Amino acid sequence: MLILGVESSCDETGIALYDSAAGLLYHALHSQVAMHAEYGGVVPELASRDHIRRVVPLLRSTLENAGKSLTDIDAVAYTRGPGLSGALLVGCAFAEALAVALDKPTVPVHHLEGHLLSPLLSKTPPTFPFVALLVSGGHTQLMKVTGIGEYELLGETLDDAAGEAFDKSAKLLGLPYPGGALLSKLAEQGVSGVYKLPRPMLHSGDLDFSFSGLKTAVLTLVREQGEPLAETFRADAARAFQEAIVEVLVKKSLAAMKRTGLKQLVVAGGVGANRQLRATLDDEARRKRFRVYYPELEFCTDNGAMIALAGCLRLQAGAQAKPAGVFAVQPRWPLMDIATGAKV
Ligand code: KG4
Ligand code: ZN
Repeated sequence: MLILGVESSCDETGIALYDSAAGLLYHALHSQVAMHAEYGGVVPELASRDHIRRVVPLLRSTLENAGKSLTDIDAVAYTRGPGLSGALLVGCAFAEALAVALDKPTVPVHHLEGHLLSPLLSKTPPTFPFVALLVSGGHTQLMKVTGIGEYELLGETLDDAAGEAFDKSAKLLGLPYPGGALLSKLAEQGVSGVYKLPRPMLHSGDLDFSFSGLKTAVLTLVREQGEPLAETFRADAARAFQEAIVEVLVKKSLAAMKRTGLKQLVVAGGVGANRQLRATLDDEARRKRFRVYYPELEFCTDNGAMIALAGCLRLQAGAQAKPAGVFAVQPRWPLMDIATGAKV
């Protein structure tokens, strides 16, 4: 079974071909980061227009590189939500129209399920059940995953997502959008312990998170310092921020491992690319004797491969592909709406 995957929920256009037997054949990606950078964030209308420009050329290069033709495709999976409505509509209309033309069914996919399952694209994938730490620009959740669609929410952020906190703090430190990865680079030049920032909800006794206070603490630090910010201050503050957020993410993940008794932790979403988070989790995993799985770096942030994979796994798990041509997007869509588990 050959699945075409289409991702267009935010500022990346992703197209991929996933074969149920051979695995990922090829994926192509166009990032709009450079286009949005001058505005300091994603401009939804520009995002939609750029997706329109990119989808067909990306499809062509994917087919060519995979050595496949349109008629080889068995179903078209695309991101139905959550995300920017205009951006989602481009991918959805493209996927549905293509499927009508090919007389093939479609599989609307939940973007977060794509992230959640992306470590399964690795050469050494985890097996069910596992705990998942989903840390993206829009979401921060800890989940118990026992199978496709079997997701139990263990905890989530009450305000900002981890990626959002990275991006907002990066902006405060004078870094361009999207600042998460740049902040983590800057942090590597900083000295640990110069500034001490709060670890929100570290001892709350549950598995929920809150990051808006941490961002405010960075703002206070920046205001105390006054403009222009010295290079050493920016690096030391970035270091302090990263250490605080990583400590909270790691300790809550450890608590989730303890609570569930599971031995595998999967880290997914853009913040999963963070080197300090990975190094600290790897250390803890060695000490506590569990395994941590990360998606390949190229599959940490948005991509079409995880959507094609999620669509394929859904079909293999018995979901019905739907007839093409009737469609809707779902810009707001809690993952738990498609899960069989409830918050514990
Ligand atoms: O998963 P993703 O591509 O988008 C959403 O679905 O939200 O994640 C993007 C987020 C951004 O907030 C970005 O700043 C953050 O992931 N990010 C990082 C790193 N690389 C990307 N945050 C911290 N350290 C990184 N190395
Ligand atoms: Zn994403």
